[in-house]
Amino acid sequence: MHNFLHKILVFLLVFQIFSAHCCIQHERDALLEFKAGVRDIFNRLDSWRGNKCCDWEGVRCSNQTGHIVELNLRNTNFEIGIDENIDYDWNYHSLAGKISPSLVSLSDLKYLDLSFNNFSGNKFPEFVSLFQNLKYLNLSHTGLIGMIPPQLGNLSMLLYLDLSYDVYSGLTLNSRDTWWLSNLRSLKYMDMSGVKFRDSSGWVQESLNKLPSLEVLVLSDNGLTQISNSLTFVNFTSLRVLHISDQNFNSTLPNWLGSLPSLTDLIMEDCYLVGPYPTTLGNLTSLNKLALGLNSLDGMIPPLYSLTKLTHISLRYNNIEVEIVDFFDKLSNYTLRKLDYLDLSSTNMAGTLSGWIGDMTSLSFLSLSSNNLTGTIPMDFRNLTKLVHIDLSSNSLTGLLSEAQLNGLLKLKYLDITENNITIFPDNNWTPSFQLNIVFLGSCKLGPKFPAWLQGQVEIEELNLMDTGIDDNIPSWLWSFCSLWKLYLSYNRLRGNLPASLVHLKQLMIMDLSNNRLEGEIPFLPISLFSLRLSNNSFSGQLRKTYKSSYEKKSVLLNDLTGVVVELFPCGLTNLTILDLSSNNLSGHLPPCWSNMGGLLILANNKFSGIAPSTFSCSKILRVVNLNNNNLAGEFPIDLKFCSVLELLDLGENKYTGEIPDWVGENLHQMIYLRLRSNLFYGYIPSTLTRLGNLQVLDLGNNNLSGPLPRYLDNFTAMGQFISASPVYYDESLPAMTKGLNLVYDSVLLMIWKSIDFSNNNLTGEIPQNIVVLTGLLNLNLSHNHLTGKIPFDIGNMTSLESLDLQMNNLSGTIPQSMSLLYSLEVLNLSYNNLSGSIPTGHQLQSLDDPSIYSGNPNLCGPPLKMSCKSPKSDDNNDSKSKHAGYRDNWFYLFIEFGFVVGFLVVFFTLLFKRNWRYDYFRMIDSGINRLHVLTALALERWSAERA
Ligand SMILES: *[C@@H]1O[C@H](CO)[C@@H](O)[C@H](O)[C@H]1NC(C)=O
Ligand SMILES: *[C@@H]1O[C@H](CO)[C@@H](O)[C@H](O)[C@H]1NC(C)=O
Ligand SMILES: *[C@@H]1O[C@H](CO)[C@@H](O)[C@H](O)[C@H]1NC(C)=O
Ligand SMILES: *[C@@H]1O[C@H](CO)[C@@H](O)[C@H](O)[C@H]1NC(C)=O
Ligand SMILES: *[C@@H]1O[C@H](CO)[C@@H](O)[C@H](O)[C@H]1NC(C)=O
Repeated sequence: MHNFLHKILVFLLVFQIFSAHCCIQHERDALLEFKAGVRDIFNRLDSWRGNKCCDWEGVRCSNQTGHIVELNLRNTNFEIGIDENIDYDWNYHSLAGKISPSLVSLSDLKYLDLSFNNFSGNKFPEFVSLFQNLKYLNLSHTGLIGMIPPQLGNLSMLLYLDLSYDVYSGLTLNSRDTWWLSNLRSLKYMDMSGVKFRDSSGWVQESLNKLPSLEVLVLSDNGLTQISNSLTFVNFTSLRVLHISDQNFNSTLPNWLGSLPSLTDLIMEDCYLVGPYPTTLGNLTSLNKLALGLNSLDGMIPPLYSLTKLTHISLRYNNIEVEIVDFFDKLSNYTLRKLDYLDLSSTNMAGTLSGWIGDMTSLSFLSLSSNNLTGTIPMDFRNLTKLVHIDLSSNSLTGLLSEAQLNGLLKLKYLDITENNITIFPDNNWTPSFQLNIVFLGSCKLGPKFPAWLQGQVEIEELNLMDTGIDDNIPSWLWSFCSLWKLYLSYNRLRGNLPASLVHLKQLMIMDLSNNRLEGEIPFLPISLFSLRLSNNSFSGQLRKTYKSSYEKKSVLLNDLTGVVVELFPCGLTNLTILDLSSNNLSGHLPPCWSNMGGLLILANNKFSGIAPSTFSCSKILRVVNLNNNNLAGEFPIDLKFCSVLELLDLGENKYTGEIPDWVGENLHQMIYLRLRSNLFYGYIPSTLTRLGNLQVLDLGNNNLSGPLPRYLDNFTAMGQFISASPVYYDESLPAMTKGLNLVYDSVLLMIWKSIDFSNNNLTGEIPQNIVVLTGLLNLNLSHNHLTGKIPFDIGNMTSLESLDLQMNNLSGTIPQSMSLLYSLEVLNLSYNNLSGSIPTGHQLQSLDDPSIYSGNPNLCGPPLKMSCKSPKSDDNNDSKSKHAGYRDNWFYLFIEFGFVVGFLVVFFTLLFKRNWRYDYFRMIDSGINRLHVLTALALERWSAERA
């Protein structure tokens, strides 16, 4: 008996050793069931066959028990799919499909990692909370959705928890609250980025403060709105890394930060933190990295003398507002010498670079952009021999940047000094000791020769030499820079032809050569191109009949395909989203793909002719079409019928004919700006046009339109508002130069410019009374028609009007007295009608005293006309004169007030045309506009991200 038991025991032992090798049957079945549920196109689970499941890829068993203890299927190879210029490819080497609940059988699991696979759409696998022994759980970047079960808090052995999301997928997990986290007493590492907590109040006291072992905490984009400021007792003193970003606290930096003696990384960016810095920051003696950028923190930092390990400081986009030398007084000399990374951009600092910059000899990253720094770049700048990245853009620095200051910077890769008054004048035969990737010198003084020292900089990816006074040919060596990704050379006096082909620039995405004197034909271009601006040059010729492009599939998997396709320019450029060829001498027909183009198509001011080919399709992202001032003919282009997101359409100054189709009003709901001026359109103005509630500018002038004005003009609701919501008017062409300001005023322009122009047609009937609700209109021009009836009685309601032109009609009756309420009116013309009675006086009308405004109306009387009205009043000359003078003075002041608004608008429009003023002017405008700019820029980014 005894013997028998012994034999059984031996047998069991042998069995266990044996099974350790070929694993436990039901666990193996569970794995196979899991395998059956996933799509594995990269054959990562190829080894998952046979009995020895402990040897399978990603599987590890315990030597003692034979149970599976580790399942590690993390996709580490996806990074191979990441190229700097190619989008991160989540699917590369991914497992996809379902996570089978069969895994629940792996009851001894200690380690589970499924990160960076694509299980998008799967709910959080609830069974995970049953793995009592789990120490490591990583389900990050798996596309899981839905609620995290609070039972996960039962995993009391857990050391490592990563449930962070994939920013690219937009898929996120939810959690009812943060309470369950407080049970994870052993936790050392937690990343919950992207997890949306429905109730996060008290997450510091109730959860964080119950985790005494926690060393690393990462929370980004969780929608947290509170962070308790003080704690009676701080338990989480093991914390080394606190990384919180993209939250919405609207509160000060918490006081408990000073009680975290082990903290090495304090990162709280974009959290809407306000108020001053707590003095307790000075107690964080282990701190290595201090990053509090993109908040609303105010004022000077506290003394940080004891932070001897500090090497990284980023306080960008806060309001420090001190002399920059005083800022460095808060750091020890030792720290200054050790600092590796310093970002103080947009912090409102003043002062010069002298006296401190030469001491920062360890710096590899320095950004001081968008401050108020003055003076020159001092000679000891050359001490910064470790510099890789320097950004001094948007300051008021002056003087010379020469070979002597730059020569020692062997590691320099990124140089941005745009928007300063710096003259860069290295010797002609200077060969820099560095190889730059990013060169932004826009608005500095470089010319008149194209800078020869750039010739050896063959690794340049982004080059901005806008507005640098270059008066030269583009040197041919520039076109051998095959890494070029963005190229901005606009606003110079560049001459000559471009090479016949630039197809070899396979990275080129953005090329802006506008506002130069370039000529010849447009070259063959690489398929990578996203934005092409060649406006305001002298390019000529037809769009070429054949187009050869190197044809590449963008997918990283298939990037070896090369070949040649033949297309008409720009039809082969399938990535092209912004095309501006305006103001050149281009001729011939529009390309057949024209309505299938990307977001912005500007071909104005050329010699394109004929009838645009019709493909009856539209790219659905075409938002701006400007074909103004060509010789285009035919009917209103039918292709646009399907362009449902069109916001701006200008067909003006062409030879289009036929009727304006009803579908314009029925289909193009997003239209903001519609200009058909100076064509040969005839027939009625379709009543459907008034369905375009977003319309702000409607210009049908100079056609052969007949019939009445549309009846329901009051449906133009956007014209009833002074300022409309800003359209996202994308213009990525000026990234470093103006930091996107170009974007701003274009949007601002579209926000305030409201106009109706039906002039020079054969329109008949009366002016609808409801037109007076369009109180945002700045311009109303109905002149040179056959309109009859009266001027609307309440026209004085249209208080924004700056220009009103009703001349050359058959309007009759008196001029409404309310017209004197049009305070902004600067241009008025009522001549050649049948108006009668006395001309209203007072207010703004008083300053419009040119009699020709009223001429050709024989029955009008009163000033400024010579003919006086027969008034019952006596002509007590002196008395009425002096009264009149007083009257005038009062209104003079009022006019000044309103005149200010007008003046502002005038400045705005002037800025449109005078480039050099713009920079200075917009710098003055307060953060309100900056905010707008940021918003627009963000919207732009989002828009392009959505496209990608
Ligand atoms: C289990 O066995 C493997 C090889 O058989 C060995 O490398 C490993 O260290 C062992 N693990 C333990 C915990 O004994
Ligand atoms: C701090 O930790 C101790 C021991 O782990 C615990 O008893 C106490 O309740 C914790 N304090 C708070 C505020 O959670
Ligand atoms: C931030 O808090 C202040 C004071 O508590 C409050 O006045 C302000 O409205 C808040 N701002 C936002 C955007 O919630
Ligand atoms: C922080 O430092 C100050 C002196 O700078 C000291 O009075 C205070 O006790 C320190 N606080 C902690 C929590 O160490
Ligand atoms: C720090 O450096 C400045 C100038 O380099 C010097 O005047 C000052 O005495 C130094 N401070 C210490 C504590 O060494």
